[in-house]
Amino acid sequence: MAQGVLLPKHIGIIMDGNGRWAKLRGLPRNAGHKMGAKTFRKIVRYCNKLGIKYLTVYAFSTENWKRPQEEVNGILNLLREYLNDAKNYKHENVRTKFIGDLSVFEGDILDKIKECEFESENFTGLTLNIAINYGGRNELLHATKVIAQKVKDGEIQPEDIDEAMMDNHLYTAGQPDVDLIIRPSGEFRLSNFMLWQSAYAEYIFMDILWPDFNEKSLDKALAEFTKRNRRFGGI
Ligand code: FPP
Repeated sequence: MAQGVLLPKHIGIIMDGNGRWAKLRGLPRNAGHKMGAKTFRKIVRYCNKLGIKYLTVYAFSTENWKRPQEEVNGILNLLREYLNDAKNYKHENVRTKFIGDLSVFEGDILDKIKECEFESENFTGLTLNIAINYGGRNELLHATKVIAQKVKDGEIQPEDIDEAMMDNHLYTAGQPDVDLIIRPSGEFRLSNFMLWQSAYAEYIFMDILWPDFNEKSLDKALAEFTKRNRRFGGI
C-alpha cells in the first residue's frame, strides 16, 4: 500500500455490480453473488491486515426481498456458507457483528449468527459489520421507537435526547461514525446505507464491478481518501 496514507477508522462498502458482472459473462446472477462473496472475504482479510478498525459491508438490504426468490435464496445460502466457515477463520481475529432487522431470519441462520457473534466477541482485530435486512431508515425508526418507549416509561425526558443517545440506539452503537464509503459499479447512490453514521463521510464511487474489486482497488480508494481535505464543517 502507498506510504503516508491516512487510514479511515471505519469503512463502509456497498458491494454493488454482482449481477452485471455475471450478465457480462452470460452467467446466472447468483454466479455474480458467489464471486462477490469471494471478493468480500478477500477485502475483509486485507482491511484486517492494514489495521482498519471497522468495516461495514452492505450484503442484503430491506429492499432486496423484492428480487426473484431464487436470487434471494442464493444470497442467503452464501450467508449460510460464510457462517458455517466462520470457525475456520478464528485465527484471523475478526470480530463479526450482524446489523439490520434480524427478526425476519429463520431459526438456523439466526442461531448461527448468534454463535458467530458470541465466538468472535473478544477478538481484537477488525470489527466487521455485515448488514443484512438492513436499511438506514429502518435503523432510525427502530432507534426512535426504543427511545420513545423510554420516554413513555419515564426513564428519560424528551430533552435528554441528543446525538449521543441516538448513536447509542443504532445497530452500530459504540462504534465510530463511518468516515469512508466506497461504492463500486459506477452507481452514484446511497441506497439507504448508514444514513445517520455517514453525516461527514467521504464517498468514493468507483467504476469497477464488485467481483472484480481487489486489494489494489482498496489501495486506490484509500489514497483518494487521504487527499480529501476533511473539514467537518469548519474552515
Ligand atoms: C448488489 O449487486 C449486491 C447484492 C444485493 C448482494 C451482495 C451480496 C454479496 C456480495 C454476497 C455477500 C455474502 C456474504 C456472506 C456477506 P447487484 O446484484 O445489485 O448488482 P447489479 O446492480 O449489477 O445487478
